[in-house]
Amino acid sequence: MLTRRSLVSTTALLSALPVAARAQDVAQAPAGSDGKVRASSPGGVITVEVGVTGEGRPEYSVSRLGRLVIAPSRLGFLLTDAAKLERNFAVAADAPTQHDDTWEQPWGERRFIGNRYTEFRVHLAEKWGLERRMDVVFRLYDDGLGFRYEFPDQPNLKTLNIGAELTEFTVASPGTAWWIPAFEWNREEYLYNRTPISAVGVAQTPLTMKLDDGLHLSIHEAALVDYSGMNLRRAEGGRFTAMLTPGLTNAAVVREAPFTTPWRTIQIADRAGDLVESSVILNLNEPNTLGDVSWFKPMKYVGIWWEMHLDLKSWNSGPKHGATTENTLKHIDFAAEHGFGGVLVEGWNVGWDGEWFGTGWNYSFTQPYPDYDIERIAAYARSKGVEIIGHHETGGNGFHYEKQLDAAFAQMQRFGWHSVKTGYVADAGGARVTGPDGQAHLAWHESQEMARHHMRVIETAAKYQVAVNAHEPFKDTGLRRTYPNMISREGARGTEFSAWGQPGNPPEHEVNLVFTRLLAGPMDYTPGIFGMTTRSPDGIATTWAKQLALYVTIYSPIQMAADLLENYERNPGPFQFIKDVAVDWAETRVLNGEVGDYVTIVRKDRHSDEWFLGAITDESPRVFSEPLTFLDAGRRYRAEIYRDAPDAHWKTNREAIVIEQREVTAADTLDLRLAPGGGQAIRFVPLGRTRR
Ligand code: NOJ
Ligand code: CA
Repeated sequence: MLTRRSLVSTTALLSALPVAARAQDVAQAPAGSDGKVRASSPGGVITVEVGVTGEGRPEYSVSRLGRLVIAPSRLGFLLTDAAKLERNFAVAADAPTQHDDTWEQPWGERRFIGNRYTEFRVHLAEKWGLERRMDVVFRLYDDGLGFRYEFPDQPNLKTLNIGAELTEFTVASPGTAWWIPAFEWNREEYLYNRTPISAVGVAQTPLTMKLDDGLHLSIHEAALVDYSGMNLRRAEGGRFTAMLTPGLTNAAVVREAPFTTPWRTIQIADRAGDLVESSVILNLNEPNTLGDVSWFKPMKYVGIWWEMHLDLKSWNSGPKHGATTENTLKHIDFAAEHGFGGVLVEGWNVGWDGEWFGTGWNYSFTQPYPDYDIERIAAYARSKGVEIIGHHETGGNGFHYEKQLDAAFAQMQRFGWHSVKTGYVADAGGARVTGPDGQAHLAWHESQEMARHHMRVIETAAKYQVAVNAHEPFKDTGLRRTYPNMISREGARGTEFSAWGQPGNPPEHEVNLVFTRLLAGPMDYTPGIFGMTTRSPDGIATTWAKQLALYVTIYSPIQMAADLLENYERNPGPFQFIKDVAVDWAETRVLNGEVGDYVTIVRKDRHSDEWFLGAITDESPRVFSEPLTFLDAGRRYRAEIYRDAPDAHWKTNREAIVIEQREVTAADTLDLRLAPGGGQAIRFVPLGRTRR
């Protein structure tokens, strides 16, 4: 074994070399006289160093262009039934290897993704005693890195009962953090805190930070399979320790060696927008295992939904029942007339009467309420070329849901319905999972058992050609690359919070989401509201133009036109943008942005040559001068502009929108004027070639 590894020895010379040269040198002499092994990303931007302290405690650190970003941070585990994996280690490393490939997404925010990284495998072995071993594998990109632990098969480490993961992230400089608390009752559905890094408590990931000198970081994870979700507990200063979501016993995670943990990811970039453009998290996931998933088509949908959140209709049976045959047929007609692919129907199935949240025992996922003629609806939807989006609210009861998965998805397949919205409404710690004894147990939404549950749902759904949009979900870690039927999810405060009789989402919320939650993956935010007065004292705290811009700034391969149909019928002008906007993209670029303040994103449709622009701001008005250099040179475009009127305001004048058209080329610059809490949405339709 040892001969395969390069031994530690080196060199003041090494640290004097330019960063880019070092990866090569490590291949020949991987450790310095300081006993550390090191490697750099392909462009020499990111460098990682790994070593052990005098007591043999493993540590890693990360620098970018020679500047320390993550100061020495511990690696290791506490086990519940054996000595901790934390000191007495020796370190060695394989020569770094280079990788460079490009892969194609079946659907996504861009079609092709470049995957260029340096892989660096570090071996940690206990020097005496149990002589247990673990590898830490780093993948270094120029815009960030991932690392994971790999446990080989070995005599003294068979079953790992992981009480705690000791991985640390010691942010080397002060700055600002945007974060939501972990382990609170409402799971991920909190407004983002903006505090000094040194004031973060226990945070969920992605945890996004801007250092005082302008560098942006975001810590998250990738390929979270059969493991519990990682939260970050700040110890002191900028030092964060992984805090795993609890399991059913005092072990958060139980696994048999050999196995690998999820990747711990750190995105690092100068611009906030570079965090959004980064593909590190997707790249760290395994390639597509499902093969052809062309049965799922990205789409926009309407639904029997907002009327329940406004309390005009009910999920449960009775005089207010929303999911009636008549109401559904009306929605199918509307969808067919206006080009929507799907109709979401909530409350169609037996089980909503009485208390359903946090229990879910009464749900049937095949039996409709008597006033919902499912066969007739299916036939009508098919005749109109519209799919019904299945809805499986479980009340958090994954145990009960699993017993019906096959039957539920088989029924959907029989009707030709290819997407389902699932839901897990239960307070944190109140989900129900199948335990090792086959019985139901209460669990956290991001426990290892729930990771397993969601995987069962995804794999079963794939068998029946169903794609899943989960609410109150397990966190997104880029698994859509491996399972492209994992299309979208909630996992943050959606538009629904602005419907209820409580303070809604403030103007900065969506801008926060773009740089935090959305770094993890697509979100079913449900934009497109024109009826700005709701049960919330704030109503919808945006302008109409911002509601439209959300279709571009918040990525999801399924996008809801969430409002009541009559609000669209009454406002055909702005509704036209919702009808026109694409949902599947060839390219995505962030033109400008500051975390929590504003962002402008352009995306090119994957199925035409049209471009779309979305710009959104918080409560401050903004003016941007944006050169249109992203457009194809030598082409004329009709810019269909939906902008805030000069007197628009998220509090007092939300509906004030100007809709106008202009002819533009890539040589033009557009001034984007965003009202307080406002936005702007533009469709660029190619007209023809300019004269040369
Ligand atoms: C919460 C979901 O976020 C919402 O979209 C859904 O309507 C309700 N649960 C009922 O399932
Ligand atoms: Ca929710």
